[in-house]
Amino acid sequence: MRFIVQGNKKLDGEIEVRGSKNAATKALIASLLTDEECILENFPQIGDAEITFDLCRAFGSEIKKDGPIVSIKTPSIKSATALALSRKNRISILALGPLLAREGRAEVPILGGDKIGNRPVDIHLNALKSLGAEIEVSENSFIASVPHGLRGAKVHLRYPSVGATENTILAAILAKGKTTIKNAAIEPEIIDLIKMLQNMGAIIGLGADRVIYIEGVEKMKGVKHKILADRNEAASFACLAAAAKGNKIKIKGAIHEHLITFLNALRRVGGEYRVEDDGIVFWRNNGLSAIELETDTHPGFMTDWQQPFTVLLTQAEGVSIIHETVYENRFGYIEDLNFMGANIKVFSKCLGELNCRFNGEEHPHSAVISGSTPLKGKNLKVPDLRAGMAHLIAALIAEGESIIDGIEEIDRGYERVDERLNKLGAEIKRI
Ligand code: EPU
Repeated sequence: MRFIVQGNKKLDGEIEVRGSKNAATKALIASLLTDEECILENFPQIGDAEITFDLCRAFGSEIKKDGPIVSIKTPSIKSATALALSRKNRISILALGPLLAREGRAEVPILGGDKIGNRPVDIHLNALKSLGAEIEVSENSFIASVPHGLRGAKVHLRYPSVGATENTILAAILAKGKTTIKNAAIEPEIIDLIKMLQNMGAIIGLGADRVIYIEGVEKMKGVKHKILADRNEAASFACLAAAAKGNKIKIKGAIHEHLITFLNALRRVGGEYRVEDDGIVFWRNNGLSAIELETDTHPGFMTDWQQPFTVLLTQAEGVSIIHETVYENRFGYIEDLNFMGANIKVFSKCLGELNCRFNGEEHPHSAVISGSTPLKGKNLKVPDLRAGMAHLIAALIAEGESIIDGIEEIDRGYERVDERLNKLGAEIKRI
């Protein structure tokens, strides 16, 4: 499937942000911890949710959908193996904890996901092993068992990985005894998961300095939980509003607290915003100017904001620098932006001051953006989900027509984004 985009249209009005992809999919996995019904509100209708529904159904979940409301119930684990879904996304490994707790064994497919780096899972596996799991890695799957049951443990993550933190939490909830996770990730999506788990019966708390405490409980119960608003959608639409002069876009449901770092970067470039009770309005008045920024774990500038922000920086006067410190290969879309008229060079040297794991390695993880450059519509191919949003924003602010291929990637994370943007005045045709 592809989008045909007529660029440079005036966009204004309101767009409502949907439930967060990276919280919603984890909520489905959390529901596996109980045999009771979980009702998830504000659930986004996106490709990654469908993949996760299939995964849960393979384990025995009964799922009902009514627009943004999803009911999921897993009375018993019919099968602790879900190999048919191999490499579709990165959620399957998170099911290990709940399956081990309920069945004592589990086999889940090797992970798929974006083409943005190696994405190893050593931190996940080491944490699960500390909790008592024995894990074998075969060509297509992780095969895990708990000969002596899951036991609480002191776990220190070598990097505050989002997935590994979630995995450890999910495995520790029904383990015997206490677990402490040090150097944990504390992204808003993880807090959303913690809130849901607490309402299901977990004893789980946050300490200072990235520490999460869990006391294992015997049983978890059903819950009604509202998925938090997607801060990545909000940041993407905000970049769009600021990149093209004259656009004023209100992002309904955007949560100020989750965008604090983003808003600072936007203001430094010259973007304007006004926080209202039910959302945030974004626009720009004058010219934009170049800045330097580095991506980091929360509360730093998020790696998923980097792609739409790069498009914004192509419209800023001067030389901007982005140092990507979370993923080693997340500039796969730059060639296409240059093809559209941008002037961006990517380097493997660290162009920033954060302590970066890619220092001295041959990973293209720093970008120098010289602006401002007008963009022209072109034929583009989406390499991964967030890059796809960079393509779409670039096409929307470019002169002329763009054809964007591979939009299934965009659909994995953004619900019917074409229809929603067309309501603001965009001209995006899906064929
Ligand atoms: N890492 C390891 N070993 C591990 C786990 C991670 O080396 O065992 C490395 C990764 O290779 C990466 C870094 O640690 O370089 C961060 O990975 P993390 O585990 O934090 O990311 P994730 O859980 O795989 C989630 C989101 C990503 C988002 C990151 C960072 C989901 C499904 N994905 O990935 O979202 O970029 O956290 O915030 O929650 C997206 O939505 O497009 C997306 C890629």
